[in-house]
Amino acid sequence: MTEYSAARQYSPQEIARLQESARRHMWLHFTRMSSYNDADIPVIVRGSGEYVYDQYGKRYLDGLAGLFVSQIGHGRTEVAQAGARQASELAYFPLWSYAHPQAIALAERLASLAPGDLNRVFFTTSGSEAVESAWKLAKQYFKAIGQPGRYKVLSRNIAYHGTSMGALAITGLADIKAPFEPLPPGGVRVPNTNFYRAPSFVAHDQAAFGQWAADEIERAILREGPDSVAAVYLEPVQNSGGCFPPPPGYFERVREICDTYGVLLVSDEVICAFGRLGYYFGSERFGYQPDIITFAKGVTSGYAPLGGMLVRDALMEPFSRGDASFLHGVTFAGHPVSCAVAMANLDVFEKEDLLGNVRANAGAFRATLEKLGDLPIVGDVRGEGYFYGIELVKDKASRETFSDDESERLLRGFLSTALYDAGLICRADDRGDPVIQLSPPLTCGQEQFDEMEQILRSVLTQAWARL
Ligand SMILES: Cc1ncc(COP(=O)(O)O)c(C=O)c1O
Repeated sequence: MTEYSAARQYSPQEIARLQESARRHMWLHFTRMSSYNDADIPVIVRGSGEYVYDQYGKRYLDGLAGLFVSQIGHGRTEVAQAGARQASELAYFPLWSYAHPQAIALAERLASLAPGDLNRVFFTTSGSEAVESAWKLAKQYFKAIGQPGRYKVLSRNIAYHGTSMGALAITGLADIKAPFEPLPPGGVRVPNTNFYRAPSFVAHDQAAFGQWAADEIERAILREGPDSVAAVYLEPVQNSGGCFPPPPGYFERVREICDTYGVLLVSDEVICAFGRLGYYFGSERFGYQPDIITFAKGVTSGYAPLGGMLVRDALMEPFSRGDASFLHGVTFAGHPVSCAVAMANLDVFEKEDLLGNVRANAGAFRATLEKLGDLPIVGDVRGEGYFYGIELVKDKASRETFSDDESERLLRGFLSTALYDAGLICRADDRGDPVIQLSPPLTCGQEQFDEMEQILRSVLTQAWARL
């Protein structure tokens, strides 16, 4: 399966120098740096289409689109050139009291694609900033309309909403929060929609499970005091924990609850927007109307960094009068180069009908991954569009999961490296129960689905034998 690219070759001296320098100076994110004491740091040097290449020229299928980012795939010169052109014309100007044509054009385009009256765009540079900006907006908005007690935010167990202090307070992963306590107050957890691990009283009925999970949001609002709750943050399909789609009726009920108690519904679409589920926005896929959508990642397919939030007209209203202003800003938000790149990225979506590609092939992707269900280690295959999680179990019949020690040996000690060595970039994650996550470029078809399935089959079979 390994293919060696004809592109720029790195000499043995350059490769050694890269390793030495990386070990001496790089600090990798969420990474145990000691794991590279006796192993090479993986270095990716270029990408083309659905594949990336390391410094030896070895090819990898990018089954995670980098980090849920590279929707149109790698190596698109027309998108790169759009960025270069913009840098020559106007490299930078802030959105603090000014606008520039690329940000204006992109804001209009996003508003036209978004559901309902989400017509106002506040740009950021990342997903965490978008999530945190939405919280700040909610707090200032409620103060402006005479409900100053509303500051709390509800989000789901194990959900990831980012790492800056505010976003981390919304994130539902206890382990990555603990070192940074105390966090800003107001983060409240509600259950997620992992049907595979549903409580026994709703375990055999998806709709009843959905109703229960949504009702838990209402119970949390009542427990906390409705006058203190500002917003509920939900992803259309929850990423962390391994792709939890919403059960039928879930979002309908959540919208009803938010309307009843005057709580804002924030759809965190940092992963689920821009085609990941076959629609520009994940909320469209499930037919609900958010008050705010947060986005990042796929808006540029990673050719430049950009994030932001799309906001309903009504939320802007108190800020459009007299001396009011939203007291928040970021220097590089809505960077001209990033906006130009986002416009070119969306042109590719249109020209190549990428949403159509995802919708046409999502069934085949699911069917191909479901073949792995015959392996004893595969407990559940779940997801939507081009976004899947495969939950690994010790005992399929009882759904028993692995102990911390087994998880450590299985995921960190074997699977992550073995999958990479076999030429597949994906994610072996144990932030909930152990899962493999897949989120390939939207250009993928059956050839790449088969490649993923074959590599996973071989590596998971070896993993089972080692247990
Ligand atoms: C749902 C969600 N929200 C927020 C974030 C944070 O985005 P960023 O890493 O760009 O800050 C992520 C990142 O993966 C995410 O998946």
